[in-house]
Amino acid sequence: MAARNPESVINFAPGPAKIPAEVRKRVQDGIHSINGSGVGILETSHRSSQYTAINKETTDKLRTLLNVPANYKILLMHGGGSGQFSAIPLNLVKGDNPTADYFVTGTWSNKAAKEAEKYCKVNKVLPKMDSYTGVPHQSEWKLNPEASYVYYCENETVHGVEFHDVPDTGKVPLVCDMSSNFLSHEVDVSRYGLIYAGAQKNVGCAGVTIVIVREDLIGHADSKCPIILDYKQMADMDSVYNTPCTVAVYVLGLVLDWIIAQGGIKAMNKNSAAKSSMLYNVIDQSNGFYYCPVKDKFRSRMNVTFRVGGVEGDKKLEEKFIEEASLRGMLSLKGHRSVGGMRASLYNAITTEEAKQLQTFMLEFMKSNVHEQ
Ligand SMILES: Cc1ncc(COP(=O)(O)O)c(C=O)c1O
Repeated sequence: MAARNPESVINFAPGPAKIPAEVRKRVQDGIHSINGSGVGILETSHRSSQYTAINKETTDKLRTLLNVPANYKILLMHGGGSGQFSAIPLNLVKGDNPTADYFVTGTWSNKAAKEAEKYCKVNKVLPKMDSYTGVPHQSEWKLNPEASYVYYCENETVHGVEFHDVPDTGKVPLVCDMSSNFLSHEVDVSRYGLIYAGAQKNVGCAGVTIVIVREDLIGHADSKCPIILDYKQMADMDSVYNTPCTVAVYVLGLVLDWIIAQGGIKAMNKNSAAKSSMLYNVIDQSNGFYYCPVKDKFRSRMNVTFRVGGVEGDKKLEEKFIEEASLRGMLSLKGHRSVGGMRASLYNAITTEEAKQLQTFMLEFMKSNVHEQ
């Protein structure tokens, strides 16, 4: 394959995902030297004054951007989103017969619930679904008022299902996986017990997971909880109990600068709405040439999933779609292997202009291929 340069591609990958060009450039500079120190980020000690400043500034920026109340800690942790599947029950369950409530709305919340079963009794809030296309009405929810917490994944990356309202779970602390829609919309942090997000989709590269946790939920970890998953240890050590993924924290800080320069979360929210509606409009006005299985109310603004050539998708047309998109530099549009079809991931770094290019391609592709349906 001929070599491509970054300016000629649009990376619609589901994560790790596109990093804004300005940030890539700053990362390059930081590889050589951070803040005039003469030492690059890859070679800087996590106990150095330079890294200590990066660590603090990054959490300060997150606190300001999300307006995080003073009674919440912001932790920068190892282990990815999957690490939190274990850390959450290990830190939050309480009582002799601990129970936790899980909304299962797709692949990731299903995995989280399975992992939690190792540590507590898991109550599934929703009836079992044959396919993940939305969230059943509140009248069908079975919440347990005695649960230690209620868990949900706000944006299911594989299925393209997103909650657009915060579920009302009464007094039980609400725990949310925002890995794939973090900082794409405004959040009232005070409604949550805990929010977490891996950085590698909306706010940087793989290697750091942001955990925002209310102080009263810290300090109750199971005695067998691995030390690097223990929120108290991490909070007491400002997330530097051991060697963190320093480069990922550095990149996170630079992406946050970029978000601030773009106009903060308000701007990200506006862009997300504009980008995703461009694609959903094409799908909805295609007379069935394109088909999105997700119910309108729960369509993701981050991961637009769709079939080409009808409800089941036409294998040949879908392959052709991927090939032709790739020729135009539009990459990683193939849906997750477990569901097939297409998935366009429109994280913060994807510009409205790039989404527009995909929209134009979808219209042209439909025009040339509609007869083959
Ligand atoms: C919503 C969501 N949660 C959790 C995960 C798991 O993250 P990780 O690969 O960092 O463990 C993913 C991965 O894509 C995800 O999309």
